[in-house]
Amino acid sequence: MTTLTVELGERSYPIFIQADLLKQPDVLGPYLKTKTVVVVTNDVVEPLYFPLLEQALTGCEISKIVIRDGEEYKNLQTFESVISQLLAMSAARDTTLIALGGGVVGDLTGFVAASFQRGMPFIQIPTTLLSQVDSSVGGKTAVNHPLGKNMIGAFYQPKVVLIDTNSLATLPEREFAAGMAEVIKYGVIYDVDFFNWLETNQAAIKAKETDTLQYMIARCCAIKAEIVAIDERESGLRALLNLGHTFGHAIEAEQGYGNWLHGEAVATGIVLASSVATKMDWLQTSEFRRILELIESFNLPTSAPADMDYDCFMRHMRHDKKVQAGKLNFVIPTQIGAAKVTSQISEEVLRAVLS
Ligand code: NAD
Ligand code: GLY
Repeated sequence: MTTLTVELGERSYPIFIQADLLKQPDVLGPYLKTKTVVVVTNDVVEPLYFPLLEQALTGCEISKIVIRDGEEYKNLQTFESVISQLLAMSAARDTTLIALGGGVVGDLTGFVAASFQRGMPFIQIPTTLLSQVDSSVGGKTAVNHPLGKNMIGAFYQPKVVLIDTNSLATLPEREFAAGMAEVIKYGVIYDVDFFNWLETNQAAIKAKETDTLQYMIARCCAIKAEIVAIDERESGLRALLNLGHTFGHAIEAEQGYGNWLHGEAVATGIVLASSVATKMDWLQTSEFRRILELIESFNLPTSAPADMDYDCFMRHMRHDKKVQAGKLNFVIPTQIGAAKVTSQISEEVLRAVLS
């Protein structure tokens, strides 16, 4: 088993990564304040993994809340419904909330945990690649607003993250590929050796070899843990994790949440940001090509939807959380393994890339 720690003083927590971790009883025991737990999951994940989790929690008083599947349900209506169900169950502050599912379940459950009676303990059990390498770690929780993604939320850290890599066996290929966008992101912004490793190990990743997946997921979590420990609230370094997200969120919002997967929009966003970087002479064309080819090799989209032009992107991006003093900030790769945040991109370059 790989064990990592997100170092945040008294709010530090472990990340456990291994195949078949859900079959191990007693992993979660030490992280439960009381034996009362409520599992929040969705109607796709519940039949697949709730029975296993129930067995692993033998001796606990377990309730479950099943939300509908899909990004379009990551909203205030579902949030209120989960809170109402917790109240109806007489859940209390010492009840532990467990998020069992992908990033939608994790983000929503985390926000409920942050808000219910001003905070209750919660545990992340991510079951998609994207949530295992990114959303379950670092404490960003949120729901969407019709005018923008993740506009309502809180920083709220889990007590433990439990990653059973075997849950990826049931994940649809398109969802696995979407997770690869966030995996590639870590290589581009932070770790050239990891990017090289991804290029070399494409076949083993696609074959979902157990050790390869464990290494890949652990490397992503280690990078994220390192960044979050330095900059939990995103006042600097953590912003690099948003590579591709400013463009990506615009695509998701314009196309309707759920039509483009989050990871697919991020993949295109990474290509657009890298294209901006080459046009600004910050990134070599040969490195741009390597980024593009790696993203393409996982069958991810690399160009913006045909119906989105510069004005359409700008309309959405003005609502972005990265707007500061009226200026839009972009994360831009400067070489494979390094990136910077800048607002100094000419309109001419943006128009050229987004047209
Ligand atoms: P998701 O939660 O919608 O899951 C994708 C699909 O896979 C869903 O249909 C889900 O039901 C299904 N699924 C989940 N696990 C499965 C399994 N093991 N087998 C079969 N099907 C399974 O999407 P996602 O890609 O996991 O997460 C995307 C969300 O994460 C977005 O809302 C995004 O904003 C958010 N996000 C948050 C952060 C953060 O730091 N908090 C970071 C990145 C993304
Ligand atoms: N996924 C971006 C972050 O956690 O900061």
